Amino acid sequence: MPDNPSSPTIAEAVDLLQGGGLLAIPTETVYGLAADARNVDAVARIFALKGRPADHPLIVHIADADQLDDWATAIPEAARKLAAAFWPGPLTLILKKRADVPDVVTGGQDTVGLRCPDHPLTLALLTAFSGGLAAPSANRFGRISPTTAAHVRAEFAADTPSILDGGPCTIGIESTIIDLSQSPPRILREGHIRHAQLLPFLPELKNEIGNTSPRVSGSLDAHYAPRTPMRMLTREALTQAKDTRPRCLLLALTALPAGTEGLSLPADADLYAQGLYAALRQLDAQNATCILIEQPPSGPDWLAVNDRIKRALAGAGS
Ligand code: TXA
Ligand code: MG
Repeated sequence: MPDNPSSPTIAEAVDLLQGGGLLAIPTETVYGLAADARNVDAVARIFALKGRPADHPLIVHIADADQLDDWATAIPEAARKLAAAFWPGPLTLILKKRADVPDVVTGGQDTVGLRCPDHPLTLALLTAFSGGLAAPSANRFGRISPTTAAHVRAEFAADTPSILDGGPCTIGIESTIIDLSQSPPRILREGHIRHAQLLPFLPELKNEIGNTSPRVSGSLDAHYAPRTPMRMLTREALTQAKDTRPRCLLLALTALPAGTEGLSLPADADLYAQGLYAALRQLDAQNATCILIEQPPSGPDWLAVNDRIKRALAGAGS
């Protein structure tokens, strides 16, 4: 854990949240922008700071699976088994909401997204706070999710809220989301936990990535986007790019081709995911003409990474 003197203690963080304040929190996936999920005004401040449309629901973060019943109703047995198997961890469950869950949290829908994050500081905070924390990723709407406290400060500059600094996020991309409110259940967002790991619990699980329903903001085409224009190229094309595009920076797999400038990420899907957003931010900060990203492998292990890159490509340069 970094020794950051501006990071509040757990007791200070609880006070802040109980007073209706916003707090950036570390999780194993990305940093979240948290508020008391039962405080309608505090939750409204999340939407205002992010510039997020009101119909995009927020995930409620809870301390453990025992709190499922505080937020959800008609909970299928599979949801409890999934929570027992994967929580704390990068899995969000969409369930029928209890009538008393504020509409501002769920975007007016009859479902609520619930997750217990696997980070020691945030778990300590949730236990001390005892309620739920509504928290989207702590970035401006459509931009790259933050995986360090410094990224959160870069996003919000003078408007930066208090940040509970828990160091760099270990997973680096957002949680897998499964919708259990409908039959058959569906994956709404790919993440570190894959379809194959979920199938033993949910034999009928559909994988509907590419469904562009506005219910999941991560499923909009443009998201996770750098401001620098970005293109994806094969390794072969990337190797030649230095001749034609001198001010382009590369995001390569394993190693940069000789004579090129940029960064490389490991050819392991989990390690690539861990470094992806930090790499995009670093490249975006250099005022290059463009970012050229080497096409990652395909296949089930790379689904979540390819999903994030596809959306970053769609939104880049704007
Ligand atoms: O890993 C994560 O999930 C991170 C950390 C902070 O927990 N959070 C995160 O939040 O990625 P956000 O708001 O950036 O993305 C949450 C996604 C959104 O696309 C939202 O539409 C979807 O979850 N979502 C939340 N509640 C939902 C619901 N009731 N039905 C369908 N989708 C929902
Ligand atoms: Mg987000």
